Amino acid sequence: MAPAPAPQLSAILREAEAALASASSVQALAELRARFLGKQGSLTRVLRGLRELTATERAAAGQAANRVRDRIEALARERRSALQAEGQSRALSQQRLDVTLPGAAAPRGHLHPVSQVERDMCSFFQTLGYSIEDGPEVETDWNNFGALNFPEDHPARDLQDTFFLEDGHLLRTHTSPVQIRAMCGREPPFRFIVTGRVFRHDLDPTHYPMFHQIEGFCVGPDVSFGDLKGTLHAFARHLFGAEAKLRFRAHYFPFTEPSAEMDVSWEDGWLEWGGCGMIHPNVLRNCGLDPEAQQGFAFGMALDRAAMIRFGIPNIQLLFEGDLRVVEQF
Ligand code: DAH
Repeated sequence: MAPAPAPQLSAILREAEAALASASSVQALAELRARFLGKQGSLTRVLRGLRELTATERAAAGQAANRVRDRIEALARERRSALQAEGQSRALSQQRLDVTLPGAAAPRGHLHPVSQVERDMCSFFQTLGYSIEDGPEVETDWNNFGALNFPEDHPARDLQDTFFLEDGHLLRTHTSPVQIRAMCGREPPFRFIVTGRVFRHDLDPTHYPMFHQIEGFCVGPDVSFGDLKGTLHAFARHLFGAEAKLRFRAHYFPFTEPSAEMDVSWEDGWLEWGGCGMIHPNVLRNCGLDPEAQQGFAFGMALDRAAMIRFGIPNIQLLFEGDLRVVEQF
């Protein structure tokens, strides 16, 4: 008959108590658990030996062994939470978190060169009392051409230049249709500035199928060509410096009469800058205004050109490709 396990059990318990109390890590604790309670553990071996006892002996010894096992489990749990608490307070006392340190800087974007120029131009005209007006990029033939006094057979209506949409609308080829939208139903005097995208069938180093224009117009009972020249002169000095000079060349636009193209002095020569003129009586009439009582001036120019000059960008396509290596330079 096998020996009664009682002395063996208390030896195991004592040994386990000592070992668990001195276990110095959670890892060591797991190994100890295996040493006593694992498949080959000393307590497990005792439990296995119970088979050889008589039924009465087995019941008593089994209960005793279970109590030892529960005790060892409980000790292991206690030791484990003690170790974890110790580890945590050690970590808290060693690691320092300085919440006043600056965080990692998030990359910050900036306005596109064209937007920078656009905002600068608009705020200049706002100081002259202009209001900002806006219009859609998809326009009617009437607003883009008809109301602006373009004859039916004007070459600008040609498919070569204009993107026509299937429903009879078109992509506006200039910002001038906003003149029509703004003047209809409004009582002069008024002055507006418009910026926006326009579209033409064109592609080379200085032309792109989409570009930006700025357009201004001013209507009142006694608005003159002299007002137009003074306004454009102030605008040129704002953009190109106090020394900037303007040159007007007689020109033709359907929507102005008289019309001029203007050049601005730049480096050693002249830079073609835009178009202007006195708003044609037909245009005023198309907007319900009386050309005998009101007159006005208008001007328009590409905005991208000014951005290219200001930032020294040689090719307009660089402006719109969205290549960060280019855009990040401004
Ligand atoms: N709309 C013209 C264009 O796209 C530019 C222009 C010329 C606008 C003369 C005007 C103007 O308002 O008076 O080429």
